[in-house]
Amino acid sequence: EKGGFDSFMDKEIHDQPHAVADTLLGRTDAAGNLVLDDLRIDESVLRAVNKIIVIACGTAAYSGHVAKYAIEHWCRIPVEVELAHEFRYRDPIVDERTLVVAVTQSGETMDTLMAVRHAREQGAKVVSIVNTHGSTIPRESDAVLYTHAGPEIAVASTKAFLAQITAAYLLGLYLAQLRGNKFPDEIASLLDDLRDMPRKIQTVIERGEYVRATARSMSDCDKVLFLGRHVGFPVALEGALKLKELAYIHAEGFAAGELKHGPIALIDEGQPVFVVVPSPRGRDSLHSKVVSNIQEIRARGAHTLVIAEDGDDEVRKYADEVFWIPKAPTLLQPLLAVVPLQIFAMALATAKGLDVDQPRNLAKSVTVE
Ligand code: M6R
Repeated sequence: EKGGFDSFMDKEIHDQPHAVADTLLGRTDAAGNLVLDDLRIDESVLRAVNKIIVIACGTAAYSGHVAKYAIEHWCRIPVEVELAHEFRYRDPIVDERTLVVAVTQSGETMDTLMAVRHAREQGAKVVSIVNTHGSTIPRESDAVLYTHAGPEIAVASTKAFLAQITAAYLLGLYLAQLRGNKFPDEIASLLDDLRDMPRKIQTVIERGEYVRATARSMSDCDKVLFLGRHVGFPVALEGALKLKELAYIHAEGFAAGELKHGPIALIDEGQPVFVVVPSPRGRDSLHSKVVSNIQEIRARGAHTLVIAEDGDDEVRKYADEVFWIPKAPTLLQPLLAVVPLQIFAMALATAKGLDVDQPRNLAKSVTVE
C-alpha cells in the first residue's frame, strides 16, 4: 500500500505532482474558459459576493491563508481566513452576500462542519473544498469543489495542502472570470502557469536527499523558527506545524516583517531558522527585505536554512544552507516552497525514531469539538 515507500507520508509527498495535476484536470472548456461544473451556485449570487470568509483548521487553514493573497489580488474581493472554531463563537458578520469557503481534507472535521452550519443559518452560501468523497461537509454545503489528491492516510497533511491551494486558486480565477476582473487571456496564462507546477514540484522532490541529510544532522535540535512574507508567511506556519506534529519539536512560524517587533529576541547562537525567500523577480522589493532579515538574524548567531529560487545569487551569499526550488510566479511559489519543509519534518522525525504516519496524541480527522 505504501508503494515501496517507508511511510504513507513519504508516499503522499511523492504523490504531490499528481495531486495538483489531477485537481486541475478537466476544468476548462474547448474555448479555454474555466468551467467549474461542480460549483452549482447561481452566477448572479457569485457576482454579488462582497466578502469571502475561508473557514478551516490546521493545514487546511494555511491553504486558505495562501489563497487569500491570490483571490484578493485577482478578484478584488476582501477575503478573511478564520479558524473554524473561532469563527462560530465570535458573532461573525455574515449575510447573503458572503461566500464562505470551507476547506477540509477529510470533510468530517467537526469544528469546520459546525462553522458551515452556522454560516448557512446566517444566509451565506458555502462552497467546500474537500478531498474525501461522500463525507459530511460537502453534503451540507451549497456547492463543492473536490480536490483530487487521492486518499491521504498519514496524519500530517501534505498532498491535500497542495491540492487545496490549487482548488482555491481555481475558485479565485473562476470568480475573476465571472466578474470580469481579468481578461480571458490573463486567466488562460495563469492556468498555464498552474499546469506547469506538477513538473516543478517533481523537481523539488527529486532534490529531497539534501534536505533529508540536513534534517538527520539536526536531530538533536529542540527549537526551530520559520520566517516568511506574503504567501511565504503561511508556508512558514505550515513548516512549523509539520515539525511540531511529527518531530515534537517546538517550532514557530512568523511573518518576517514581525521579527523586529519581538521574535528577533529569540535568536541566539546556533538557533536554526528557516526562511522562505520570495522570488527576486517579484514585485515590491520583498526579496531584498527578506534578504536583510537573513543578514539580521545571522549577525545574531542564527543558523539560516533558506528556501530560495534557482539562480538567486544574493541569497547564496548570506545563507548557511539553501534548498533550491525552480522559478515560479510569486503566487505559485508556496506549492514548491512547502515541499522541503515537509521533507525536513519527516526526515527529522524519522531520525528520532518516531512514527511519522501516526504521531502521538493526534487523529487523522478530528470529529469532536
Ligand atoms: O480534514 P481536515 O482538512 O479538516 O483537517 C484539518 C486539520 O485537522 C489538519 O489539517 C491537521 O492540522 C493536520 N494534522 C496537519 O498536518
